[in-house]
Amino acid sequence: MKKCMICKESIAPFISFGQMPIANGFLNPDQFDDEYFYQLQVGFCSNCSMVQLIETVDPAKMFHKEYAFFSSTSTRMGVHFKHLADLVMKDYIKEPDAFVVEIGSNDGITLQHFANAGLNHLGIEPSQNVAQVAMDKGIQTVCEFFDERLAMEILAEKGQVDVFLGTNVMCHIPDLHSVFAGIRRLLKPEGVLIFEDPYLGDIVKKISYDQIYDEHIFYFSVKSIAYLADCHGLEVVDVKPQDVHGGSMRYFIAHKGALNVSSAVAGQLAEEEELGLHLHGTYERLRHKIQLSRDSLMDVLHDLRRQKKCVAGYGATSKSTTVTNYCGITPDLVEYISDTTPIKQGKFSPGVHIPVCSYQKFKKKYPDYALLFAWNHAKEIMANENNFCRCGGKWLVYVPGVKVI
Ligand code: TYD
Repeated sequence: MKKCMICKESIAPFISFGQMPIANGFLNPDQFDDEYFYQLQVGFCSNCSMVQLIETVDPAKMFHKEYAFFSSTSTRMGVHFKHLADLVMKDYIKEPDAFVVEIGSNDGITLQHFANAGLNHLGIEPSQNVAQVAMDKGIQTVCEFFDERLAMEILAEKGQVDVFLGTNVMCHIPDLHSVFAGIRRLLKPEGVLIFEDPYLGDIVKKISYDQIYDEHIFYFSVKSIAYLADCHGLEVVDVKPQDVHGGSMRYFIAHKGALNVSSAVAGQLAEEEELGLHLHGTYERLRHKIQLSRDSLMDVLHDLRRQKKCVAGYGATSKSTTVTNYCGITPDLVEYISDTTPIKQGKFSPGVHIPVCSYQKFKKKYPDYALLFAWNHAKEIMANENNFCRCGGKWLVYVPGVKVI
């Protein structure tokens, strides 16, 4: 029996997606034979409420010198992180010599605003290629995984931190206890940890099972984060839902008793109870809904193949790896995936090996249908693709339900 990574109670999987490759592991044909697979299974801990992967993948297999995810590829995310930086500078930076640390700082999409404001900052980013992009922009970055040991080094060299940031990174880290222990040591008495990740409540409501993949080890709720913070003398002082990455939650955490606790925390906890995020039965029902979603997506794709329609994927997202492999979407159903990220183009999607092509290919000859893998950017994408629809193109979406638009 697997032990919960937070409280060590026994947990069992409520769903298995089967053999799964690395979500961001876009590859060349000469790598097909050596492709790495693991069992993608998810469990719920009824003691501390943490939803988590049963088997985790060695971080070095996911975050390395060829990591394919560059935060700055989305303008919308650029605006989102600018707003975050503005909020931090307005509400949490009290002195000109304040120190801001960010983990998973990627290509510096957020930290650049602190660097430009002349603030003392440090990015911690384990993937060399994206870390290098940040360094080239003049953003102080160390290429490492953050843990308690690194926290002690930073403390000795640079002192305590006013604001500790992490966006879409905390849920990637297997040893969260070491991270929280490190943050506790690093944070000034009135310092704040602000992080955001895809929110379990949204996954359950939207049946967005494609948020589940190797990099997302944990699926957080306010309840499970409150438990984790409490283990380290910290507490959740505020929460703010975010309309990015298909529905995220931003958590504000401080030393116990140091800051006022917003009523939003109790409000969100009450909402979670109503949604049943603390109950095993909720996840049994989620499994059933995920299976139905898969079946209806495959019905549509088989139907389109019978009609000899050309279907292309839109956005070679990490999420698409779960959908294509779990559902069995092969290149005979989806001819290619269009993506604007140069490092993914010319490669093949993990597991099912659908070719990833440049956006120019999509524009040059529109497919009949575009399967919207980047559904979290639907507004931005659909606004840009009026011409695709004018030319008769149709969108196939699967979150929150399967439909053709
Ligand atoms: P992202 O939203 O970060 O999803 P994930 O976390 O699941 O990887 O990735 C979006 C992907 O979609 C990225 O590879 C860039 C691509 N993309 C496009 O090709 N065109 C677009 O207009 C947008 C917004 C994204």
